[in-house]
Amino acid sequence: MDTVLRNGTVVTATDTYRADLGIEGSRIAMIGQELQGDRVLDVDGKYIFPGGVDPHTHLELDFMDTVSSDDFYTGTVAAACGGTTTIIDYAEQTEGGTLRQAVNSWRAKADPKVVIDYGLHVSITDAREDILTEMEDMVTAGVSSFKCYLAYPERLRDDELLRVFIRARETGALVNVHCENGWLVDWTTSQLLSEGKTGPRWHPRSRPAPYEEEATQRAVTLASIAQAPMYVVHLTCLGALNAARRARDAGQQVLVETCPQYLLLDVGSYDEPGFGGAKYVLSPPLRESENLDVLWRGIAAGDVDSIGTDHCPFNLAGQKDRGRNDFTKIPNGMPGVETRLPLLYHEGVNSGRITLNRFVELVATNPARSFGLFPQKGTIAVGSDADLVVWDPDREMPLTLDNLHMNVDYSPYEQKTVRGYPELVLSRGKVIVRDNQFVGQRGAGRFLERSPFSLG
Ligand code: URP
Ligand code: ZN
Repeated sequence: MDTVLRNGTVVTATDTYRADLGIEGSRIAMIGQELQGDRVLDVDGKYIFPGGVDPHTHLELDFMDTVSSDDFYTGTVAAACGGTTTIIDYAEQTEGGTLRQAVNSWRAKADPKVVIDYGLHVSITDAREDILTEMEDMVTAGVSSFKCYLAYPERLRDDELLRVFIRARETGALVNVHCENGWLVDWTTSQLLSEGKTGPRWHPRSRPAPYEEEATQRAVTLASIAQAPMYVVHLTCLGALNAARRARDAGQQVLVETCPQYLLLDVGSYDEPGFGGAKYVLSPPLRESENLDVLWRGIAAGDVDSIGTDHCPFNLAGQKDRGRNDFTKIPNGMPGVETRLPLLYHEGVNSGRITLNRFVELVATNPARSFGLFPQKGTIAVGSDADLVVWDPDREMPLTLDNLHMNVDYSPYEQKTVRGYPELVLSRGKVIVRDNQFVGQRGAGRFLERSPFSLG
C-alpha cells in the first residue's frame, strides 16, 4: 500500500466500524486490520468520512453585473479545507449560445485551477429547439443534469420547462429546478420600490415563501406530466417541502436539496445594523424562523436528500454595496462551500438531530448518487476514489473570517464556534489539507464525466 490510515473509525451512509484503510495510487485498495504500507498515518480516535460532495456551487459566476468572488482555485481550496473533495458547479448557457459553449467556457476557467475533482451541471436559459436536441450530447459527455430557473430574467416558461423535462426523460438526465415564481417576485419588488422600501430587509419580502411553494408545486406537476425525475435546489420552507412530499408519496421521483443557511439563519438576519443585512441577500431568501425546525424535521424524516451550499460569494465592499440604495442591485448569493460539513456536523450530529451515518448520506453519498458519481465518490469502499476526510470530533473551530479560506470579506457565521473539523483531507490518495492548511496543488483536480440519472 502507498498509504495506510490506521485505526480510524470508518463512517459511511450505512456503517460505522474500526478499520485500517489501504490506499494504492488514487483508490482505496483494502479495508482491514493491521495493514502495512509505505506511509502509515495513525488516526486513532478520529472518524474517516468519504470526502464531501457539494452538488451546488457557483464559482467565477458572472451574475448581476459582477462575478462571484471565489474562482476555481480559491473556491476549491476552501471546499477542501472544509472537507469537500468534489463540487458540481453550474455552467450557464448564454443568450443565443449552446450548452457545449457553456461547458467549454466553464472548463476553460476550471481545469487549470481546480484542486479537487469537479463536475458540471448546465443551466438552460434559452430552451430553443436545437438546445433540446443538444441535451443528449451533454448527457453523453458526462453532463447529465440541467438547471432551469423559474425566477430571474433567465427563467423558462411552463411549456419550455415541460419540454426540458420530456427531453430529460428521453436522455436519462436529471432536471434541477430553482423554484420561485419570478413574475410575482417582479411585481412585488416594483410595489416595494415604489413605496421607497429599498433596504436589504425588503429582499425577503419581495419573494416570500408562498412564491416558492407555488413554483415548487408547478414544477412538480410538470415533471409528473413528463414522467421525469426532478431535483429541487435550495428548498427553504414548509409549503415547498409539502409539495415535494406529496409528489414523493404519490411515487414521483422528486429529490430535495437544502442548504445550511436555511437550517441555521432566519429572516431576522436582514435587520443587522447598517448594511449588514446585505450579507444574507440570496435567493430564495432566509425565511421565518419556524421553517428551520420544519427543515430539520424533514431531514430527520428522510424528506430531504442532500445538503448543498449554493456557494455564490460576493464581497460587501465593492460588490454587495452596489445595492446600498436599492436591494435589487445587491448581488444575490452567500459563501458556504467551506462551512457545510462543520456546520452540519456541529448542529446536526453534536446536537443529536441526525446520526453520523445520516450526516455522511446528506453531505456525500446522496449527492454522489443523485448526480451519477456513486460509488466512485460519496462512499468508502474498495475501488472507490481515495477522497477521504480524517475528522477530529473534538477540534473546536471559530468560523471567523481569519480561520476560513473563502475569498470573501465576511463570514456569515462570525460568532459561531463548531466542534468537529477536518484534520486531514485526501483527494485521490494525496493529502491536500493538513490542520486547516492547504498543501495540495493548483490544477490537480479532474473533470468528472457523470453517468446518466439512476438511483439504481
Ligand atoms: O442567491 C443565489 N442563490 N445566487 C446564486 C444563483 C442561484 O439562484 O442559485
Ligand atoms: Zn444556486
